[in-house]
Amino acid sequence: MADLEEVLPALAAEMAERTDRGDVANYIPQLGKIDPQRFGIAVALTDGRVVAAGDADETFSIQSISKMFTLTLALGKVGDALWRRVGREPSGNPFNSIVQLENEQGIPRNPFINAGAIVVTDVLLAGHQPREAIGEILRFAQFLADDDTIIVDREVAASEQATGFRNVALANYMKAFGNLQHAPELALGVYYHHCAIAMSCRQLAMSGRFLAHGGRNPATGHSVVSAERARRILALMLTCGHYDGSGDFAFRVGIPAKSGVGGGILGIVPGVASIAVWSPGLNENGNSRLGSIALEKLARAMNWSVFAP
Ligand code: DON
Repeated sequence: MADLEEVLPALAAEMAERTDRGDVANYIPQLGKIDPQRFGIAVALTDGRVVAAGDADETFSIQSISKMFTLTLALGKVGDALWRRVGREPSGNPFNSIVQLENEQGIPRNPFINAGAIVVTDVLLAGHQPREAIGEILRFAQFLADDDTIIVDREVAASEQATGFRNVALANYMKAFGNLQHAPELALGVYYHHCAIAMSCRQLAMSGRFLAHGGRNPATGHSVVSAERARRILALMLTCGHYDGSGDFAFRVGIPAKSGVGGGILGIVPGVASIAVWSPGLNENGNSRLGSIALEKLARAMNWSVFAP
């Protein structure tokens, strides 16, 4: 097996040279300002080592990667009852699509598309004020990463709140079907803020360690979720984590992963590593273009795949 200490810097150098970087997500104005030249990668191994390269300590907007945190919290709160309100199937549609909601009575296909994540946020709001729910999600990210400097970027949240017309439509549509318990604007307020959590690749890789280690923090041995629940979250990441690009990502990279329109991807090699990569330019499915390519190359170099013997 190749040496990660050599592979990561070489990969970062190779990615820095590439000109086919995709386009930044300018539908959220604040994200449209990010320099597409950035590239960072960090790998937190279950043996405790962390190897990083490029802009691995620069923070970026984690966006939909936060849906892994909210799904984990919602399962902790209501368990399998969540699946009465959200499905577990890939949507085969863009992350912000509304088309299936009409035929499927306001039940979103999975917790990672926007509609599904808004329902998950609604679950987390129960019994809380919006600011308490946001605080709970942020503290969970800090706890998982073992880093209480992680913050919500309020400018990004405000920028999306001002322009998130599709999400407003999704939330109202689901409310009409009775699948939101709170006012759409309250669920959306929490949703925009958890999407606006800012983390570096190093922090993000640290936060994913429990998924790489059967639900336990490998450093402390403390259980975050049961091994069975960790497996199921990973199954959803593999099948739904890249929206309409999930099949192609599984084919090319072969590990469960969750992307965000900030250009980050969190990938998990069960038993081995939690990987975070960041390159702000996106492909046609809204997933990091160079991030996906870098993960494909890394997985090949290290022989990492959930399908390998
Ligand atoms: O709701 C949105 O559109 C964004 N806050 C999150 C979308 C996202 O990250 C999709 N991921 N690739």
